[in-house]
Amino acid sequence: MNKTANYNKEITTIYRVNEFLSSASIGSLEHLLNLIMEEATKTVDAEVSSIALYDKQKKDLYFTVALGKKGEQVKQFRIKLGQGIIGVVAKERKSLNIADVSKDKRFSSGLDKKTGFKSKSILAVPIIHKGKLIGALEAINKRGMKSFSSQDARLLEIVAGQAAIGIENAMLYEKILKKHGALKIKHRQLIEAEQKLVTMGKLSAIGNMASRIVHDFRNPLTTIKGFTDLLMLKKETVQSKDIEEFHKFITSDVDRLMGMTVEILDFAKGKSTLKFEECTMKDFMDNICAILKRDFENKNIKLIADLNYDGPVYMDKGKMQRVIYNIAYNARDVMSNGGTFKVETGSCGNQVEIKLSDTGGGIPDEIRATIFEPFATYGKSNGTGLGLAIVKKVVGEHNGTVVIESPPSPKDSFDTTFIIRFPKQKT
Ligand SMILES: Nc1ncnc2c1ncn2[C@@H]1O[C@H](COP(=O)(O)OP(=O)(O)OP(=O)(O)O)[C@@H](O)[C@H]1O
Ligand SMILES: [Mg+2]
Repeated sequence: MNKTANYNKEITTIYRVNEFLSSASIGSLEHLLNLIMEEATKTVDAEVSSIALYDKQKKDLYFTVALGKKGEQVKQFRIKLGQGIIGVVAKERKSLNIADVSKDKRFSSGLDKKTGFKSKSILAVPIIHKGKLIGALEAINKRGMKSFSSQDARLLEIVAGQAAIGIENAMLYEKILKKHGALKIKHRQLIEAEQKLVTMGKLSAIGNMASRIVHDFRNPLTTIKGFTDLLMLKKETVQSKDIEEFHKFITSDVDRLMGMTVEILDFAKGKSTLKFEECTMKDFMDNICAILKRDFENKNIKLIADLNYDGPVYMDKGKMQRVIYNIAYNARDVMSNGGTFKVETGSCGNQVEIKLSDTGGGIPDEIRATIFEPFATYGKSNGTGLGLAIVKKVVGEHNGTVVIESPPSPKDSFDTTFIIRFPKQKT
């Protein structure tokens, strides 16, 4: 073949390899290798071809594809770098063109024995991309002739050179796909775990809430039972003014229980049913203070009332009562060894102000930022974290504000003060 014909053949090969490389669907390495082998077999007119890819981790070569006679069987083999003709080519990164492999001691007949194929002539070229070994490509048995020509070697090197880029890209793509698949699995697992956590969180919140409800219900129920027992046991001696007093306590505790059930149901349903009415601050606070006094007595907590506003207010009495209890019971929880709880009322323009202070040591830093958020609880085994969320919601529904001073002011002997302000009149 003359120089021009050689040149033309090389150009045609480059063109064809480029053509199938750009048309091969990206990502399918096996498909791409098949195309390269077909092209190599055709280009150098061989009986069969195969590609061995280099495994960087195991430092060996593996045949992923082999077309032609018995080709399918060659698919699974692994060989060491330097083993057999293709192994030597990969190791030394130099092409080999051997006319009769049976006379070459580097030839390993292992594959032939396993496949039943008879190799005679072999042309093998390394596949290298940017100085990195990708593998090696071999064409076996030149059709109609004894051996491959130097022109065949040149052409196969061209095929290998072009193929290297495609293989490298396909391998990278496969790696990305694998990573993407693994990430997708991880993502799914994360979502499942998150769902489980949410369910568990909800269940534990419900459990905590239930125990808290039982706990909160116990106080008024015990009082009611105490008064009714007293009425029965001492019915002959009880005076009518005592009966009136007992009746007042029982009714107020029953109202408190009813209020709690409505509030819990409202919270569970996410709705709000406020019943605003004109009331007198004095009656409202007197009733609350009487109940708190009783609740705090056996906890060694002193109640101080400094009530400076007795006038009218427009509010949902039951809900506002609950606001004060929620704050007071938090204070009771942190003053397990006793302390002082102070209730103050005042008036500031058209606003009524309720200040509730305790000597419980102050708000822990860990909860400070989230204290008004639902389910934010800290340092309690049975806290639901709804108490102050309800406080904020109810005060907000009264167009009011609630703020915490912790520590209040240096001259104050209290550790935490909740300040509630809301309009006295309907807005
Ligand atoms: N007066 C206070 N002093 C110190 N820490 C407080 C005080 N009031 C509230 N806290 C802290 O704020 C947290 C949130 O209070 P919140 O009333 O919202 O929930 P809880 O008391 O934990 O549970 P729940 O009231 O729903 O039973 C409490 O767990 C507690 O750590
Ligand atoms: Mg609470």
